[in-house]
Order: sequence, then C-alpha cells, then structure tokens
Amino acid sequence: MWDFLSTRDLSAASIDNILNLSEEMRCNQVSLSGKYFAANLFFESSTRTKMSFQVAEKKLGMDVLDFQMETSSMAKGESLYDTARTYEAIGADLLVVRHAFDHWYGELAGKLSIPIINAGAGKGEHPTQSMLDLLTIYQEFGSFKHLNVAIAGDIKHSRVAHSNAHALTTMGANVYFAAAPGFEDDSLDFPYVSIDEACGMCDVLMLLRIQHERHAAASYQATSYLADYGLTMERERRMQDHAIILHPAPVNRGVEMDTRLVECARSRIFKQMENGVYARMAIMSILLNEWGVNHENITEK
Ligand code: CP
Repeated sequence: MWDFLSTRDLSAASIDNILNLSEEMRCNQVSLSGKYFAANLFFESSTRTKMSFQVAEKKLGMDVLDFQMETSSMAKGESLYDTARTYEAIGADLLVVRHAFDHWYGELAGKLSIPIINAGAGKGEHPTQSMLDLLTIYQEFGSFKHLNVAIAGDIKHSRVAHSNAHALTTMGANVYFAAAPGFEDDSLDFPYVSIDEACGMCDVLMLLRIQHERHAAASYQATSYLADYGLTMERERRMQDHAIILHPAPVNRGVEMDTRLVECARSRIFKQMENGVYARMAIMSILLNEWGVNHENITEK
C-alpha cells in the first residue's frame, strides 16, 4: 500500500504509468466502480490544486468532502492527525492534504487505512504539480531524455522546484537552476546558471514566483527583479524556437516574467492547469487501484 507524498519515491516506470494514464483520462471517460468519498483537506490557500482535485474527483464519480480550516475543529485545537483520523472514521476513501509544514505527512504516513496524497507541503514537495508539469512537457516533446529544463526563480522556497528536479532527473532530463542571490538551495546538487544562460540553452523554462509567504527577507523591487532575474521580452527573443515556458502559477505578472509573455505562443501555463485535472485523476485512480478499488466504465469521449 502506498501514498503519493514525494517524487523521490517514484521510479521512471511509475511516472510513465501516471503520464500514460493521464493521457487516457484526457481522451476517455473513466469512472470508478462503486461510490467513494474524497476528502480535500487544505490548510493553505489554493485555487488550481484544490479546484482541479475537485473536478478530477467528480469526473471519477467520487463524492467530495470539503474542509474549511476556519470553521473546523482545528479552531478548537484539534491536530492534523486527529482531523485526518476523523475523516477516515466517517468514511473517506482518500485524503488530499495541503499544509504549510514541509513534512506534515510524517504525522500520518503508515497510520491510516486510506491513501494520502500530498497536494503541497510547505517548501518541501508538490508531487502532483510535478506530474502535470511532466505531462505538459511530454505532450510537447514526447520524451525527457537529454531535454534541458531550466527552473528559474525562488528555488530555495519552492516545493515545485524540489519535486520537479527529482522527477525530471529520474526521467533523464538535464535540470539547471537559475536563482537570485538568497534563493539558491544548497541542499540540492544541481548546476546553477544565469537567467541569460538558461534562456539561451533550455528546451523548457520553468519560472517560479517569489514565495513571499515562506520568508520575510528578499526585498527585491519588482522592476529590478524582472530586469536582473526574470523573463523579459528581450530574453524571450533569445530562447530557442521550439522552447516552451511553464509556470506553476499563480504568476506575479511583471516580477518573474513580463506580463505580455504569460499568454505568449511559447507559454503552456494554462495548458498546465488543464493537465492538472487529468494528472490528478490518474494519480487517484492508480492509488485507489493499489488499495483495492478498481476503475471501470472506460468509454471514448
Ligand atoms: N500551482 C499551485 O499549486 O497553485 P495553487 O496554489 O493555486 O493550488
């Protein structure tokens, strides 16, 4: 039995399986056999992840148990563990959790009889975001082998950077980081390049916003940050013809990228969001299958 907590746990074969099933989810109508409840426990704000999980769960035919931290018994001091155990006890078949702690799942993993999905852990990992990012890259290039992927921005505080660096390396891509001083992550052994070098050599440029909610320091001015470390119009013109731009969003327009580039021809930012539904359907379907729930009713759209 396994949970979906970190891309460090994923082999190339299991990532391949997720990507292939995501494509199947995109092309076919797939629903689970029986009636299942998904509990979405978001202790941090979210638009994309929360809503795409909700859509994915509904597409799979699941009932969605919502959770509002402010009106829950967390306000009376209930712990994450007791909250999760409560949802398990009342019949949830799957937990989706986002939390500000980097390793919140240490409190839960191995202690529940239902699968847990990490929907974002502080500045630790965001593995479902990584799968939708890889799906977007796979749709574009058909392979990861020897692709140059530059991840640029606040690497140190980005769970997306951490999950993607591991998953992309597992799949055979070359990963480079570009970061302003103070945003490097010494715990990860990947080469750093300048934003100019990154734009010149990458096949995929993955931009990140400054994670202000995770640190008080780093008082960069928006205009100077864009000019010194961001994707300007001039840098975009120097990218290879086939190169694409990703961003997990939300985008701070005019800070890490020129606002005119958010929906430019190279941008796949809204495609990533669309793919989030299919990647999350695939992940939940695989997990529930592992835990003994089979899916059925596959029909072409
Ligand atoms: N990319 C991402 O996790 O977005 P949300 O914070 O809106 O879920």
